[in-house]
Amino acid sequence: MYVKQLEFRNYRNLNDSVFTPEKGINVICGNNAQGKTNIIECLWLFTGGRSFRGSKEKDMIAFGKDHAVIKTLFFTEGRDQELEIRIEKGKRRASLNRIPRSYLSQIIGKFCAVVFSPDHLTLVKSGPEERRSFIDGAICQTDPMYASVLLRYKKILNERNNLLRTIPENNSLKEMLSIWDESLAAAGAKIAAKRAEYIKKLSTFAVGFYDGISQGKEKLEIDYKINCKASSDADEKEIYELSLQKLTQKQEEDIKCGYTTSGVHRDDLTIKINERDAKTFGSQGQQRSAVLSLKLAEAAVLGEEKGEKPVILLDDVLSELDVSRQNFLLTKLSGMQVFITCCEKTVKSDNTVYVDNGVLSDKPFGSNIS
Ligand SMILES: Nc1ncnc2c1ncn2[C@@H]1O[C@H](COP(=O)(O)OP(=O)(O)OP(=O)(O)O)[C@@H](O)[C@H]1O
Ligand SMILES: [Mg+2]
Repeated sequence: MYVKQLEFRNYRNLNDSVFTPEKGINVICGNNAQGKTNIIECLWLFTGGRSFRGSKEKDMIAFGKDHAVIKTLFFTEGRDQELEIRIEKGKRRASLNRIPRSYLSQIIGKFCAVVFSPDHLTLVKSGPEERRSFIDGAICQTDPMYASVLLRYKKILNERNNLLRTIPENNSLKEMLSIWDESLAAAGAKIAAKRAEYIKKLSTFAVGFYDGISQGKEKLEIDYKINCKASSDADEKEIYELSLQKLTQKQEEDIKCGYTTSGVHRDDLTIKINERDAKTFGSQGQQRSAVLSLKLAEAAVLGEEKGEKPVILLDDVLSELDVSRQNFLLTKLSGMQVFITCCEKTVKSDNTVYVDNGVLSDKPFGSNIS
């Protein structure tokens, strides 16, 4: 899969223009605050996912404008395809091959990408929510139906939590809890089984990549920590039974808390380096290498499942790596279309675009000034 053309109108600080990348390595070069990450973010939006910067829709529209339009022509499934996203009134609306789609979720899985920016260090450093959303986002790209199971789980969880909060005022409502428990356990078991299967595949690749990055000196381990059971191997039926059991056991506690204290919304991904928790004991470099391995593994699994390699988006990543890690990374990415942002061009590329105050050029700015 690769991008042939990218077009933006009223997108953040970027001047309305058309960018034509190459199949291999594309370097996006410029000083700070010129628009490099804005280009990466724009490419990422075609996956149908949220901005990896956590921005709201309205933040993506150029100051003073009321809408933005981004468009890409990309090659996938043996032919050119087109995706257009219009951002207006706090919403994104997509057209795929000029046919408007009712829901943004309908484009998930069409344009596949893996993004890695320094912010992704939160994968190791922050709490379980970041790790769950990494896993869930990655699965959605390989299995778009998974998004609807997640949504169903979220809705049931909200309903159950609302009920928990009203029971202290009306104890007769307690009888209804078991109905929600069953639905929550059923949706949760589907999610846990899918996550376990995905993490198993991810782990095989990530461990290999970490071994390469550390030149065999350190060992990475990743494992799925399921809330309702001790081991990470997950059979949907078994998880359903165990989580239903736990939900029932903890009903009184949940009523006291006013929220659901067990379920897949409490699961986690454990990341260990040399048998110790990477968050607590890992050095900055080790944590960065662990995230890089996870991201490379995400690309590898995506490529395997889709039968096509995803587009790789690397924002401010190279400057954080030493030369041997940079080389390792670039070797592992050969054969994929890559977009790399940097302030100074240090890597060999197939194409370089320079960005200055939102203006794109194929020549360095100021290069014609003698
Ligand atoms: N909605 C918007 N409308 C206009 N300009 C915006 C909007 N959102 C952000 N900007 C501007 O975009 C610029 C930042 O762009 P971006 O984050 O892409 O920079 P960058 O080139 O990646 O810089 P760095 O090297 O520091 O990461 C800032 O000057 C910011 O004010
Ligand atoms: Mg940036």
